[in-house]
Amino acid sequence: MKHDTLFAQQHQVVDFAFDDAVADVFPDMIRRSVPGYEAIISQLGVLARHYAQAGSRIYDLGCSLGAATLSMYRQSSDLNIEHICIDNSESMVKRCRSRLQRHMPDANLQVICENIEETSIHNASLVVLNFTLQFLAPEIRLELLKKIYQGLLPGGVLILSEKIIFSDKTENQLQTDWHLASKRANGYSDMEISQKRAALENVLIPDTLEEHQQRLAKAGFRQSCQWFQSFNFISLVALK
Ligand SMILES: C[S@@+](CC[C@H](N)C(=O)[O-])C[C@H]1O[C@@H](n2cnc3c(N)ncnc32)[C@H](O)[C@@H]1O
Repeated sequence: MKHDTLFAQQHQVVDFAFDDAVADVFPDMIRRSVPGYEAIISQLGVLARHYAQAGSRIYDLGCSLGAATLSMYRQSSDLNIEHICIDNSESMVKRCRSRLQRHMPDANLQVICENIEETSIHNASLVVLNFTLQFLAPEIRLELLKKIYQGLLPGGVLILSEKIIFSDKTENQLQTDWHLASKRANGYSDMEISQKRAALENVLIPDTLEEHQQRLAKAGFRQSCQWFQSFNFISLVALK
C-alpha cells in the first residue's frame, strides 16, 4: 500500500480533489484519516448479507476504489446481484474498474464515471453512500436522497456514512480533538493535518446527526438507525 505523504510538504492551499495523486495513496489515506473505516467496510458486508435481495441491484455511490462493493460482493455472491459503482473522478474509476475486475471476475458489475446527481436508480435492495454525501452541495442532498428512496425496492435500505459536526460546541471541540489525536497516532504530522484540513474546508461540508436524520425522514425513509460511531464519524441504516 502506497504511503500518503501528499500534505507532508508545505505548499499553497488548493481545494482537495480526488485526482491521480489522491487515488494512488487512497487506501492508506482513508484508513489513517477515518477512524473505524476498515470496521465499516467489513460490516457493510454483513449488512449486505442481511439486506441484499436476490436478482436486485446494489449501488455504491462515490465508490472510490470499490472497497465497499468488494466487501458486499463477498457476502452476497450467491444472490445474482448487479453491482453498480459510480464515481465522478476518472482517476478513481479506472483504478476501481481494474481492481474489481481482478478481485471479483465473475460478478455482474458496472463501474461508471458520472456525477451521482445523474445516476438513475432502480431495482435496488441496497444503496451505499460511504463518506460521499458530505462532498455534495448541501442544497442538492435532499433531492439525491429522494431519488434513492424512489429507486429502492420495498424492504430496501440506504447505508449512509458521514463525518459529522455536533450542535453542542464543547462536544464538537472534544470530538474534533479526538479525531486529530487519532490522525497523529496514525503518523500524520501537525502540518499534514492542518494543510489537509484547509484543503477540505470548502469541499467537505458536514451536517449534524439530527440534520441527517431529518433529511432522511423528509426523503421518505420510515426510520434511520445509527449502527456505528467513532469520534465524529458515523454510519446509519435508513429503511424504506
Ligand atoms: C471519501 S470518498 C468515498 C470512499 C468510498 N466510498 C469508500 O468506501 O472507500 C468520496 C468519493 O466520492 C466521489 N464523489 C464526490 N462527489 C461526487 C459526485 N457528485 N458524483 C460522484 N462521485 C462523487 C469522489 O470522487 C470520491 O471518490
